[in-house]
Amino acid sequence: MSTITNICCIGAGYVGGPTMAVIAQKCPHIKVNVVDVNPERIAAWNDVNLENLPIYEPGLAEMVGESRGRNLFFSTQIEQAINNAQIIFISVNTPTKTYGKGKGMAADLKFVELCARQIASTSSENKIVVEKSTLPVRTAQAIKNILDNTGTGVKYQVLSNPEFLAEGTAIQDLLEPDRVLIGGEENPEGKNAIEALASIYANWVPREKILQTNVWSSELSKLTANAFLAQRVSSINSISALCEKTGANIDEVAKAIGMDKRIGDKFLKASVGFGGSCFQKDILNLVYICRSLNLQHVADYWEQVKTINDYQKQRFADNIIQTLYNTVSGKKIALLGWAFKKDTNDTRETPAMYVAKELIDDQAEIHVYDPKVTKQQIINDLEYLGVDTQKNLHIHSSPYTASEKAHAVAILTEWDEFKSLKWEQIYSEMLKPAFIFDGRSILDMQKIKQIGFKVYCIGKEPMF
Ligand SMILES: NC(=O)c1ccc[n+]([C@@H]2O[C@H](COP(=O)([O-])OP(=O)(O)OC[C@H]3O[C@@H](n4cnc5c(N)ncnc54)[C@H](O)[C@@H]3O)[C@@H](O)[C@H]2O)c1
Repeated sequence: MSTITNICCIGAGYVGGPTMAVIAQKCPHIKVNVVDVNPERIAAWNDVNLENLPIYEPGLAEMVGESRGRNLFFSTQIEQAINNAQIIFISVNTPTKTYGKGKGMAADLKFVELCARQIASTSSENKIVVEKSTLPVRTAQAIKNILDNTGTGVKYQVLSNPEFLAEGTAIQDLLEPDRVLIGGEENPEGKNAIEALASIYANWVPREKILQTNVWSSELSKLTANAFLAQRVSSINSISALCEKTGANIDEVAKAIGMDKRIGDKFLKASVGFGGSCFQKDILNLVYICRSLNLQHVADYWEQVKTINDYQKQRFADNIIQTLYNTVSGKKIALLGWAFKKDTNDTRETPAMYVAKELIDDQAEIHVYDPKVTKQQIINDLEYLGVDTQKNLHIHSSPYTASEKAHAVAILTEWDEFKSLKWEQIYSEMLKPAFIFDGRSILDMQKIKQIGFKVYCIGKEPMF
């Protein structure tokens, strides 16, 4: 394979955008074209005002500003980008299927298949096709079947190169990844293709961190990594419920077990539940694959991780209703935070929307403040859940107006700014008794209690 000087990425989303911005910065000798079917998204990537990029990630705007127009380009010219590229990354969305066989469980691969068909019908020279999207194990075979049956004589190598970045820390994760995983065919052509891709990463990632495996191990490793991470969150969240009933404190328990080297301290923060576009869909996908292969016990084991997550969100909303004298009808409740975690504007599967729905179903008046999520996004999320957003929903640009005259405040995202709000002022302007439900355990309960609040913190005995 000759030196790589031109690559393209299909899908300008949370993975495609940041990943390609980092490659462009680290490899000024490579022309990087990021293409997408969504013209509004591409226009936002090309906006002269870098504040208007479609994705918020710390450090992303500066990085795009440095390379855009030099060796980083965003466009809707998909065919042209495919034709010019030596390596094509497929980075499109793979949501849970909402129809037909596997509905609600299996990954919907229609966008990936469309990409494969478009590559097959467009390419006139040999290509390396890279699965960057998270895909069920053995998807590479399906992609290869489509690519190998065009009759054009063009030869393809399909690699699996799953992305392990976490939203909110995407740029840091891409600059200093724990590992880069590349799976390919175990023959000389496969090895050459793996080496071509590895040589790109080697511009900034130490060689010993670039792992080479067979395609199936690589595909399955991504699903497994997400399942293990989600499992840790559900494990600590299950214990948070027990703490609240026994006087144990979840932060103390997490610290004590996390200091055990065999366990480690990462992903042991109790919360209102995990969200984001990946954990739930990847677990469901894993469960679906296991069931399809008649591994019923394995499927049931992993499904429980999602069940505990649903329980945690439900439990949080139920607790608010019960504490506010078994009804929130007509009561103003301020929700601080809507994104599924801090430092991102992504709201896919955010626990906030499920909590809001439960409260609105009980006729609460919901007042939302989030520093990065748009009003339209909040409305879209609730409408997706079938909530009538004309009534009972108000969106604020300040946490203070959101909580004025509220019966309760619920913290749903761990934005740093919430730790240093003027809580005395918020207290003085709320109805009494003033309740706080801290779904991220970010507040100092004692201090908040001293102001006069009645406080519930996930995983701790309530101070009512
Ligand atoms: N978001 C994360 O944190 C994360 C992390 C690791 C892996 N992943 C995986 O990466 C993949 C992409 O995730 P994302 O969060 O970037 O999704 P996203 O929805 O933000 O972006 C996907 C983009 O692909 C575009 N697209 C879809 N079909 C297309 C087509 N045929 N041609 C051109 N463009 C097309 C969409 O318009 C969209 O802009 C998923 O498989 C996901 O599981 C996501």
